[in-house]
Amino acid sequence: MNFEESKRKRNSNRRKLNECTRLVASITVAILFGFCIGASFPLFSPSKIKLIAPIDTYLWDKNSGQRILNVISTTSDISKEVHNHDDPSKIWVSSNPRGAERLPPAIVAAESDLYPRRLFGKPSEDLTTKPKYLVTFTVGQNQKSNIDKAVKKFSENFTILLFHYDDKITEWDEYEWSKRAIHISVTKQTKWWYAKRFLHPDIVAPYDFVFIWDEDLGVDNFNAEEYIKLVRKHGLEISQPGLDPSSRGLTWQMTRRREDREVHKETEERPGWCSDPHLPPCAGFVEIMAPVFSREAWRCVWHLIQNDLVHGWGLDFALQKCVEPAHEKIGVVDAQWIVHQGLPSLGNQGQAENGKQPWQGVRERCQSEWKMFRERVSNAEVEYYKSTGVDPLNVTTH
Ligand SMILES: *[C@@H]1O[C@H](CO)[C@@H](O)[C@H](O)[C@H]1NC(C)=O
Ligand SMILES: *[C@@H]1O[C@H](CO)[C@@H](O)[C@H](O)[C@H]1NC(C)=O
Repeated sequence: MNFEESKRKRNSNRRKLNECTRLVASITVAILFGFCIGASFPLFSPSKIKLIAPIDTYLWDKNSGQRILNVISTTSDISKEVHNHDDPSKIWVSSNPRGAERLPPAIVAAESDLYPRRLFGKPSEDLTTKPKYLVTFTVGQNQKSNIDKAVKKFSENFTILLFHYDDKITEWDEYEWSKRAIHISVTKQTKWWYAKRFLHPDIVAPYDFVFIWDEDLGVDNFNAEEYIKLVRKHGLEISQPGLDPSSRGLTWQMTRRREDREVHKETEERPGWCSDPHLPPCAGFVEIMAPVFSREAWRCVWHLIQNDLVHGWGLDFALQKCVEPAHEKIGVVDAQWIVHQGLPSLGNQGQAENGKQPWQGVRERCQSEWKMFRERVSNAEVEYYKSTGVDPLNVTTH
């Protein structure tokens, strides 16, 4: 080793030493910094978490500790769930909603509501009432006065939600109730498109019943509170008011109002229309113009609605898949009845194409959606039974 060489080596060693010193210095700073953080949030210190049982990792907050403990003692098997995860110092609760497993259960807000709140004051005092029912109308301003009449048939126990398909919202300001209503505006969409996007079961969870109604209904002989009393009395999970015989497009016997009773759950159709007296359209059947769903039934029906089949045709025949037994839990309320006015609305909002009127394109789309929906449902069932090894022909349909 000559002089030049050894000098280079010494220099390089010194550089390394300098780098080491710097590294040690920054580690020290980091430790000090970490210590400061640990000191200011003692319960949150990582070393502490490792030393205590996994269940206690929830208790990082002294103040909420009591509340959390209560939840844990009433929730079964949570500690087991936590142990399932590899690293016990990390929260993992597989019974939490999907995607929220890393959160301590007591902080998870899995459901919401449509109750407007104030911007000030105590949150606990924001809500003077919590309506138990929800009614939605899909509206354009041409049907304004009709909707005004309809809304007045729903008491203060209802949240009112309007889906606007014509971009006109301020036009509704003239009505006092409009101030407490919720307005959602998306151009030229259908009732089922809105329902799928804005009425997720976890959002409308506080409501015992959800009314998803068209805008062209005559409600002179309808009262919503009375309606709900009958629905509860007769155990209807899915229902609609009877349709006055003067209604436009009264297609099915099932939804025609009977004058001699409060409620009916089955009917007779024209010969050959019903393969089974317990199946649609003779039972387990209401139409899609004015349906009312219980919370539980809606949780299922929401999943049945297809994102691309916006008109909802054929949905009425499939509703019976959501309740059991359908011929007892689906029915028509005769004592509170409505008129289907069949006013021109969204159906006219298509596009003139190839010499066809706008309504023709919409009508054709409705029919093709109906066919697609039927095929999807039946394919899905075949696929399911194939996967379970059961012969679909052996399955009882009700
Ligand atoms: C609203 O609900 C409450 C509680 O169920 C009931 O007592 C009241 O009569 C309802 N309001 C109307 C207008 O029916
Ligand atoms: C269908 O039902 C019949 C009579 O109960 C039975 O013998 C047959 O094995 C069933 N088929 C299947 C695929 O389950």
